[in-house]
Amino acid sequence: MADTTRASAGFHPRTPSEARVLDYLLGGKDNFAADREAAERAIALAPELPMMALESRKFLGRAVRFLADEGIRQFVDIGCGLPTQNNAHEVAQAAAPESRVVYVDIDPVVVSHASAILAGDERTGVIQADMREPDKILAHPGLRHLIDLDEPVAILLVSAFTAIPEDEVALDIVARLRQAISSGSWMVISHPISDSRPQVAEQIAAMYQAKDLSGAPRRHDIRSRAEVEPYFDKLDMADPGIVRLPAWRPGPAGPSVDPKMVWAIGGVGRKL
Ligand SMILES: C[S@@+](CC[C@H](N)C(=O)[O-])C[C@H]1O[C@@H](n2cnc3c(N)ncnc32)[C@H](O)[C@@H]1O
Repeated sequence: MADTTRASAGFHPRTPSEARVLDYLLGGKDNFAADREAAERAIALAPELPMMALESRKFLGRAVRFLADEGIRQFVDIGCGLPTQNNAHEVAQAAAPESRVVYVDIDPVVVSHASAILAGDERTGVIQADMREPDKILAHPGLRHLIDLDEPVAILLVSAFTAIPEDEVALDIVARLRQAISSGSWMVISHPISDSRPQVAEQIAAMYQAKDLSGAPRRHDIRSRAEVEPYFDKLDMADPGIVRLPAWRPGPAGPSVDPKMVWAIGGVGRKL
């Protein structure tokens, strides 16, 4: 595995972490009692959450496969979460073994688990870093070791901006990353939206009001579609554009669930 460097974010087993709650929703074992309790409270409000978490992973897998078919051989998965199913390096390297993948997360549990799983894999790395500092991420030796920013790269931000309450900060992160990548690079972005489940979305957002690992206050709602669409500004969107996750290039058999059941949208856009 490539060079790994730790940032200073703490490890708080009694405070639910997004990565470990998601791990529980996906049926994983890398979570603590506080994470399981938070996840169960969220599931009581929205029983569709485990299905949505799975659909998000499937979207990520289809997007990475699409980009591998487009010739992309470098991937940076920011806010990657705990290693689970359809991990970017597995999908990319199954399509093209020479693909290089760097995972980025602020959560030390994510970084230590990913490091253990990736030990011995010279084409895949993990760094602990804060997406609020995109310039530091792109300059990080652990990323530069594997990723050549003069060549096309895919930046993945899958369900990552739920952790960034301020709209202007999220938009600035996207803009800085988009500016830094070379022409012909891609961005994969998804985000839950409040539009079809406004009350449930609000209650779930309220559960995450405790400060997160980056120390940032959380927002009181989940973004609307209109608030998420500007993340894709200045990108040439691959068909079918910005859609509910199951509806993004589902393959010949069609979506595995009714797209309307999944209140999250995503898209894949190319920097011209
Ligand atoms: C909802 S999870 C999404 C995980 C994965 N991308 C997926 O869709 O399956 C959000 C992830 O972002 C990470 N995260 C939260 N704040 C972050 C920050 N400031 N910088 C980097 N990662 C962060 C969390 O630790 C968590 O793993």
